[in-house]
Amino acid sequence: MQQHQIQVSYDEYPDTSSLNHQDAALLEAAREAIQLAYAPYSKFQVGAAARLSNGIILKGSNQENASFPAGICAERVLLSICSSLYPGIAVIDMAISYFNQLGTSNRPISPCGICRQSLSEYETVVNHSIRLILGGSQGKVFIIEKATDLLPFAFTSADMK
Ligand code: THU
Repeated sequence: MQQHQIQVSYDEYPDTSSLNHQDAALLEAAREAIQLAYAPYSKFQVGAAARLSNGIILKGSNQENASFPAGICAERVLLSICSSLYPGIAVIDMAISYFNQLGTSNRPISPCGICRQSLSEYETVVNHSIRLILGGSQGKVFIIEKATDLLPFAFTSADMK
């Protein structure tokens, strides 16, 4: 028997003001995107912003539906926008923020399981990792070097060969 370990490391910053200018600007873009969320059911508005390798910044937000499972998270809305407008272009960084109308918004959230799977596929397709910048409407910011760090043992197209 052999035991293996997988470690995930992330950087923690006390707030946006301690980030470099580029990261702070992307997190600000994610915060702007919160305003465009359609979240009448959960009242939990999520915004995401991507910086592409060509320098373009794109934004997305969660879009809910009366048929709850039809709702889409901000991260997957954003990835669809990225791949529709700039297919094959790498997403270098993605910032994610939120506003919880029913509670507090002062700590980072991280992508849900389905979004982790979608982020993983995007990394594979464009052959570049996606660096995540996670922060609430205020408070601490976490930076994770690659989205797949959040999805060990990801199922990928390689598994279907
Ligand atoms: N949501 C996101 O958009 N991204 C996340 O990382 C977590 C959850 C959305 C889905 C749903 O519209 C609402 O937040 C509450 O789960």
